[in-house]
Amino acid sequence: MTGYTLREFIDECRRGIAESENPAQCVRKTVPPMFKLLNGDIGFLEPKHFRSDPGHYARNAIFIDENDTMSLFALVWLPGQGTPIHDHGTWGVVGIVEGVMSESNFIRVDGQGNAANSGIELVEGGDILLASGSVTSFVPNPDHIHIARNPDDSQRVVSLHLYGHAMAGFNIYDKEARTRQWFETEYNES
Ligand SMILES: [Fe+2]
Repeated sequence: MTGYTLREFIDECRRGIAESENPAQCVRKTVPPMFKLLNGDIGFLEPKHFRSDPGHYARNAIFIDENDTMSLFALVWLPGQGTPIHDHGTWGVVGIVEGVMSESNFIRVDGQGNAANSGIELVEGGDILLASGSVTSFVPNPDHIHIARNPDDSQRVVSLHLYGHAMAGFNIYDKEARTRQWFETEYNES
């Protein structure tokens, strides 16, 4: 796997997405390339991709496809930084470059499907720890709802996130208020 490059990754993902008929197939086609990318030559990651922010985890764009079919970001999580409860509205593949990321899952059980933004009932699901070199993924409908965070008190986490479009935004959930709200994604340009 050594020597697998960002260009090869993008090309393989593009082909896989083009051949896919649904989000699950997109994920199935792009998880192996993500694993190869993580475990190959990550020299494509430049200092700008490791930018962090003391206020919250940082999202650094690596590649955003002009046709809106995929986007790749490097996220940098300082110790203790994490997300609120959220979903993505699209499929995604996440690979860990450095550190250990924790993921806490939630399951929506109010039976309204994905359309309703209120009356949402979430129950807590399991936790996962993802070490360097690991790959995970998710598909929408029903949405994958979770918290991702860096649980360590000294080491940063760097992760690669491939999404099934330009990653326009995501829903953030308020578990107690039983609501969710759509937010536009903000990121540092590549
Ligand atoms: Fe997420």
